[in-house]
Order: sequence, then C-alpha cells, then structure tokens
Amino acid sequence: MALERLDKVLATGALSRKEVKTLVRKGRVLVNGQPAVSSDIKIDPETADICVDSEPFSYKRYVYIMLNKPAGVVSASNSGREKTVVDLVPETLQRSGLFPAGRLDKDTTGFVLLTDDGAFAHRILSPKNHIQKTYLATLSQCPDEESLNQLREGLTLRDGTKLLPAIVERMPKSETQVCIKICEGKYHQIKRMFAAVGNPVTALHRTHMGDLELDAALSPGQCREISQEERKQIADF
Ligand code: URA
Repeated sequence: MALERLDKVLATGALSRKEVKTLVRKGRVLVNGQPAVSSDIKIDPETADICVDSEPFSYKRYVYIMLNKPAGVVSASNSGREKTVVDLVPETLQRSGLFPAGRLDKDTTGFVLLTDDGAFAHRILSPKNHIQKTYLATLSQCPDEESLNQLREGLTLRDGTKLLPAIVERMPKSETQVCIKICEGKYHQIKRMFAAVGNPVTALHRTHMGDLELDAALSPGQCREISQEERKQIADF
C-alpha cells in the first residue's frame, strides 16, 4: 500500500490531526516500537505497528456506517443550510470523504449506508450487481393484485423509463402497507412506481440493504459503524 502521513492515518480514528501532533510531540505515539519523530512522517498504514499511549492503533482503510435516517434530513454530504445525513454522524466516526451510498428522499426514513469507500458504494448501487434494497411502503389505499403484478413484471413509467421487476409482498398486519425490494435507484423510484398504478405512497422507510437489516436499536438520527461481517451481508465483494 502507498505510504501515508502518520497524522492522516491516525486521524481516521477518533483523533484530530491537531491532537495527533500534540501526542507525537509528547512522545506518546510509537511507530514500530520507536517514538514518532514528527506527525508528518510517512508510514505504510497496513504494515506499521502503531501504538498511542501504549494502546495498539488498528487502522481501517474505510469506514462503513449504518444510519437510521429521520425524515427532514437530506441524503448528501453537504447541502448549504439544510441538515444532511453526514451531519448526523458523531465526531468519533467522521472522516473526510464520507458520503451516503445511495440517496433517500428528504421525507423517506430508514437505512442509509455512509462510507468513504467509493468503489464499494458504486458496486452496491449498480443494478448490474442486483443488490436489493428493501422498503416498507405505506400506500394511499389497499393495492389490488393487478397493480402489484404490474410492479412484479417490470413497470414502464409514464416518461417511458423501463424498470426491472420488483419483489412486492403485502404486509400481513396492514392493508395499505407493502414490502418492496428493488435493485435500481432511480429518482423517486418507488413513489413513481406506485403513482403509476394510481396508488400514491404516503410514507416510505428503507429496512434493508442487501441482506443487512437496519438495527432496531438505532432510533431515528442514530448511527453506528458496521462490522466486516455485516458489510458482507450487504454485498460480499
Ligand atoms: N424510492 C423513492 O421514491 N424514494 C426514496 O427515497 C427511495 C426510493
């Protein structure tokens, strides 16, 4: 792996670059058993043995965060005066280059994956890779079987956009709720699908990305880092 500045590597954890500088100056950072002489020395983060205050530092190339998006927040990295999903990530998990892998509308709630791994994000969003995103959609009225079958077969929207077949199941406890799985992410896709069959969506919540379910312990606005095993439940790339 390419060499990186020590302060950049350590600042992928809970420390700021300024804090790293202070720790290095005080001799509290060891690299391969020796006190680091400066915070801008170049190291190989994959192989260097780094300790901060005698605690081994485990380097993570990328971070993957599951967020329970509340309504009213935009799926972007920065958006002028509007609050974004990245703003909801606590300081300890912040990294430069963090962005949402796929957008939910401002009023849609649920599972957003935030990462700084552009290649992973690109692959899970590409319809070619068939990574399903699962939503709970609340509809204006009880859907008839014919309209659900239209979505299952692959709908063509009013503007001529052809959609891949969706998996749609009724929810047992509510006449107006369905579970819908799609592997594309076209603009307002689910809302446009149900609008096309004359049954507008009144609420939309994403429950899964791939096989990974949104952690029920996360209240709206809360997030946590996901493990490597959990990341593989989204996609085992
Ligand atoms: N489909 C929509 O219409 N909106 C979303 O936020 C996600 C999927």
